Amino acid sequence: MLITLEGLDGSGKTTAWEHLRDRYTEYCFTREPTHSWYGDAVSRSLNNDNADPLAELFLFMADHADHLHRRIIPALNQGKTVISDRYSDSRIAYQSAALAESRLENPFEYIRSLHRPFSYSPDLTIYFSIDPETAAERAGATNKFERTDYLRLVEAQYERLFSAGTRRVTRIDATQPKTAVANQVSERIDAAMSWTAWFDWGHWPSYAGLFRIRQRILFRRWDI
Ligand code: TMP
Repeated sequence: MLITLEGLDGSGKTTAWEHLRDRYTEYCFTREPTHSWYGDAVSRSLNNDNADPLAELFLFMADHADHLHRRIIPALNQGKTVISDRYSDSRIAYQSAALAESRLENPFEYIRSLHRPFSYSPDLTIYFSIDPETAAERAGATNKFERTDYLRLVEAQYERLFSAGTRRVTRIDATQPKTAVANQVSERIDAAMSWTAWFDWGHWPSYAGLFRIRQRILFRRWDI
């Protein structure tokens, strides 16, 4: 099962991810951008105010491809639950906002279409919902994206993505105190896991391929 945490900078998702890491010690915890050299290239680009947004998209895509190949797919094939702090939805929201003024006719659809042929759709996405003003204030402008006006555009792209009937997404009010947010995230994960555990109860073959097909049916996964 692949669980992703999504939200604006400053939404508290990394704090929740750390809390989950302490609680679910048997799961595989990961993040995007990653700590690989592809992720380092992404960080360099993020720290460059003049970086070309299209080039930056492809750096993020390279990091994602490597992440899937090296970390996510092997863990899923071993039947592990993976929790990723940011994933493909971040690209669709952040880079389509960054490319809004570019030559691309429809950055949102273009970025989705880049993922579809090779990426892997999450089973459950927890969206940390917060207003862009609070998010920017909390984030403290440590990179070029952490500004209210830009985060407003990003939020609009997240809403566009999740309003299209994407059933894998569950929202958390991220303006609540940190412990309340962390508890709600754990509750949603426990609920999803108990549902899959019921189906694991001896009735189904558990080897990797069928496990994945079954997850798709259970969570009625939509494409990216
Ligand atoms: P982080 O704050 O979660 O470490 O992410 C670093 C920044 O990178 C954050 O401002 C969001 C941005 N980002 C993108 O623009 N596109 C992506 O695909 C990802 C994963 C992150």
